[in-house]
Amino acid sequence: MPTIDWNRSWARNLIHHMKGGLGEGHYGDQWGDPESRPDLVAVRRRFLEPFIDPDRVALEIGSGGGRWTRYLLPFREVICVELNPEMFGYLKDRFADPPHLQYVTTHGWDIPFVPENHVDFAFTFGVFVHLDLEIISGYVQSVRHVLRPGGRFVLQFSNKRKPEAAANPDFSDNDPDRMTALLESAGFAIADLDDETMSHSTIISATAGS
Ligand SMILES: C[S@@+](CC[C@H](N)C(=O)[O-])C[C@H]1O[C@@H](n2cnc3c(N)ncnc32)[C@H](O)[C@@H]1O
Repeated sequence: MPTIDWNRSWARNLIHHMKGGLGEGHYGDQWGDPESRPDLVAVRRRFLEPFIDPDRVALEIGSGGGRWTRYLLPFREVICVELNPEMFGYLKDRFADPPHLQYVTTHGWDIPFVPENHVDFAFTFGVFVHLDLEIISGYVQSVRHVLRPGGRFVLQFSNKRKPEAAANPDFSDNDPDRMTALLESAGFAIADLDDETMSHSTIISATAGS
């Protein structure tokens, strides 16, 4: 089970990258480039690009090296929520520290300092696949609090019904039924559910109720 402590090891993984241990490119490229890998291109087009709006506020959980953050940069404000604040230095270097990027360190499920109803679009990819359901449950409540009514929450999570996820002990015990029930019980309506594109996970786009 990938716990919060287990997830602190990403900071060491970043250092490994900085020392050249993960090859060329940016930290995160090792998991595939949403510019060129067909499944990730499809995710970008369906779940991210339609929501980009320079008048609105985005929040990303687990920004890492900015593999997806780069597409959020056109938003008026981008709030990067991270368990490992070491990632923030990397993001500042990568994007030349633009003033509309905000950095929030979480204990693993909370979103401190962000006002209620402040966010229009929340996104997370490559993060909830490694979070146990009770931690995700905490995040669903936290996102509900900061997201305005009608705001959108796009999340990718582990689907243990898929053999690739079932065989990976670093993937958390989750599936679309449990994730849907959790979101609906927190007042979200499922707008889109994609169980096809990713071989080990599922993506939901959900709207916050009023
Ligand atoms: C596999 S990396 C993915 C990074 C990025 N989202 C991407 O797709 O390239 C997981 C990231 O989530 C962060 N993380 C892990 N657990 C977290 C948590 N509970 N809350 C926020 N961030 C977390 C890690 O520090 C790391 O940056």
